[in-house]
Amino acid sequence: MPCPRTSSTEEVPVAEPDRRNRAEHTAGTSYRDVLRLDRLLACQPESGAHDELLFIIVHQVHELWFKLMLFELQEARDLLLADRLDAAEHLLRRLVAVQNVLVSQWAVLDTMLPMDFLAFRNTLQGGSGFDSAQYREIEFLAGLKDSAYLDRARLTDTERERLTRRLAEPSLREAFIAVAERSGVDPLAKLWQDGYQDLSPERWELVRVAEALLDVDQAFGRWRTHHALSVERQIGYKAGTGGSSGVDYLFTRIAARLFPELWEIRSQL
Ligand code: HEM
Repeated sequence: MPCPRTSSTEEVPVAEPDRRNRAEHTAGTSYRDVLRLDRLLACQPESGAHDELLFIIVHQVHELWFKLMLFELQEARDLLLADRLDAAEHLLRRLVAVQNVLVSQWAVLDTMLPMDFLAFRNTLQGGSGFDSAQYREIEFLAGLKDSAYLDRARLTDTERERLTRRLAEPSLREAFIAVAERSGVDPLAKLWQDGYQDLSPERWELVRVAEALLDVDQAFGRWRTHHALSVERQIGYKAGTGGSSGVDYLFTRIAARLFPELWEIRSQL
């Protein structure tokens, strides 16, 4: 079955359930139906170079986790805006757990030999993770807003609209700054140093959220580092399929920070 390109709400006919297994599930609620496996497992190439399946699955799994990350990031942002620090921290911890899963996936991709990647690299035809709208949406929603990306990436109108909306709405970083200010701490000023040094019960909650944000940021850094090294391992210093210089560009991205104030404070304490 071809991977559907139409709306995800469109129904695809599924095989009749095996009546012998009826005790295990009722019609319409089987494992394969709930997970829409007919659709999901039809979205990978069935022929071509051997390692292409690995390459596609690692990317698709990333995009699935990106979807969850966006969902949780938005909720964590809204919880901070509502001054619900404990609940926000809980979701930030989940985010870090997801990020750790993503970081660990590089080890799977690193089993690919450069010659095996070259066997299908030319079929990617300009396709690059640089155009991952969900990845960039995560950055924008977290706090790393860069409108210049909209001019550089190949995006659909829907993706462009989503990203433009994210640029306009409060990020997680902005929500944190607002909640800190409401509790009498200015994360952009010296006062925040006192906030970090004063671990009274009122401040402690804020510091715990700050540390969870740092964990998210640090995990991002780990992902970017692993990505850059894996890319160097595959293509050395060749240019990227997305039009960048390749590894040189990716190494500059490692220094990007979602919550720069929280790193800055380390130098001042
Ligand atoms: C063999 C494996 C891979 C290679 C050779 C590769 C190569 C590259 C290169 C060269 C870039 C820079 C932009 C360009 O010119 O294309 C890039 C960017 C990017 N790639 Fe990969 N990549 C690989 C795997 C992945 C995977 C598994 C993901 C997961 C989604 C991913 C996500 C991204 C993202 C999000 C960017 C944009 C980074 C930024 O702008 O900060 N890449 N990749």
